[in-house]
Amino acid sequence: MDLNLAVNFDRKIVSGSATLRFERLPGDGRDANELVLDTRDLAVDSVDNADGFELRPADPILGSPLRIRLKDPVDTVTVRYSTSPSASGLQWLEPPQTAGKRYPFLYTQSQAIHARSWIPLQDSPNVRVTFTARIQTPDGLSAAMGAERRNGTFQMDHPVPSYLIALAAGDLAFRPLGPRSGVYAEPVLVYAAAREFEDTEAMIRAVEEMYGPYRWGRYDLLVLPPSFPFGGMENPCLTFTTPTILAGDKSLVSLVAHELAHSWSGNLVTNATWNDFWLNEGFTVYLERRIIEKVYGRDREEMEAVLARGELDREMAELRPADCALHLDLAGRDPDEGCTRVPYEKGALFLRTIEEAVGRPRFDAFLRSYFDRFAFRSVTTAEFLHYLGRELPNPVPVEEWIFQPGIPKGAAEPHSDAFARMGDGWPADTNRWSTQEWLHFLRGQDPPDMPRLDREFGFTQSGNSEIVHQWLLMAVRTRYEPAYPKLEEFLCSVGRRKFLKPLYSELMKTSEGQERARRIYARARSGYHPIAQATVDGLVLGKAGLEV
Ligand code: BES
Ligand code: ZN
Repeated sequence: MDLNLAVNFDRKIVSGSATLRFERLPGDGRDANELVLDTRDLAVDSVDNADGFELRPADPILGSPLRIRLKDPVDTVTVRYSTSPSASGLQWLEPPQTAGKRYPFLYTQSQAIHARSWIPLQDSPNVRVTFTARIQTPDGLSAAMGAERRNGTFQMDHPVPSYLIALAAGDLAFRPLGPRSGVYAEPVLVYAAAREFEDTEAMIRAVEEMYGPYRWGRYDLLVLPPSFPFGGMENPCLTFTTPTILAGDKSLVSLVAHELAHSWSGNLVTNATWNDFWLNEGFTVYLERRIIEKVYGRDREEMEAVLARGELDREMAELRPADCALHLDLAGRDPDEGCTRVPYEKGALFLRTIEEAVGRPRFDAFLRSYFDRFAFRSVTTAEFLHYLGRELPNPVPVEEWIFQPGIPKGAAEPHSDAFARMGDGWPADTNRWSTQEWLHFLRGQDPPDMPRLDREFGFTQSGNSEIVHQWLLMAVRTRYEPAYPKLEEFLCSVGRRKFLKPLYSELMKTSEGQERARRIYARARSGYHPIAQATVDGLVLGKAGLEV
């Protein structure tokens, strides 16, 4: 695919052309004579080199198929199009929503099926594409893409699934981190970001030692404005991250380990369908923990594993049983709904359980061979199970893990000595506590003495987004009014769905909270990404938004 696109901030549209080169496979005794592309809210002006095209009526989840009648023996078409200002995969930010407050900002988020809202293509994780891109931006603003930069154009020579195609444009500065890594961010943030992420090269080397070479050339990070709806997105060569992990003490960089790990699990070996999402995320959380263990030590890794296990149990208690299996059935649903902690944490626990059963050396050898065997391909759960059964027969009750809800007996049990040492009483010495210990401490307060906690530790003023989020959740639960201004400020400045969803859900449990939620959301909504808006619409406005 060759993209030639212009970014128009005034009209909030991206427009230009996508040239697709494809192979026509035989069917019904002749070569296919129709090309069907996914689109959502695209205005298609023309299709060059074709016998005509038709944009079919939109499906609410999948968008509009673009049906192109092919000439014989043509294998290349050019679609000229522009996006809609409300494209689900784009967020257009006004200058006040950025760190520098002077320039607008645009970024894409294509996973799971939003690439189709800015590029007409076959938008399935089972289809891969190589591409080049020329991006025109207004004077003074630069573009970045998840691809290699080659004098003025972007190029991706490895075939990637569409959900990994990514673009950002804004006032971007760059600082190198290592020989093959660096960070892009707005100029006022770029030094802090470079300090926070200084262990990136050590992380890359850690995975390489375990699972083979990093195959994507450069590994850069891009720090987005705070409305970014996710913690991170593993766009190839260029991880996108939320600025809310810039804690100043590297305590939240497991997110970098996570997105980096996707360079093996996900970007190299990809889930063939969104029902197989756990193949991307479960493997990635497993790798993330192994990186953290290698770079920051077992203590830190186990604290994170224990915290995550607690969150998994809390979430599973509220999900329908079918969504607690690793293999999902998302028929008729938006694939974004599959994004619960189950594929992440139950998936990682499954792999850790196998690791403990067969031993780390054998399991690492298995994973390395899996990444080699399926490199640059998309795999289904069935294909993975077949490979596992061949290489490591019956290590654990595999079918139960994959197809049944709940956590099977005999599952690995993360244990943190550091947490055990903390005990349950009021702490004597918190001087050297990590973010993870603070989170464990806060989650153990039942019922919390909010005024005393705030007086002694100043949580309302904390600069750590995870700690503030936990604190605000407790403030809503206990109606601790001194934290309400902070709650409103947080909800109006941060658009990360992982933070918004629990806070709004908690508010919606009381009638006083509902009123507060509606008032805050009326102010905050326009600053959220369309994906986050859909989630919070469902919670606060009772609209049929996304359930997760
Ligand atoms: N690929 C995901 C983000 C994603 C998932 C976007 C599904 C759209 C649909 C990314 O790798 C991820 O998992 N991010 C997590 C952080 C991680 C440390 C658990 C997030 O954003 O919270
Ligand atoms: Zn992930």
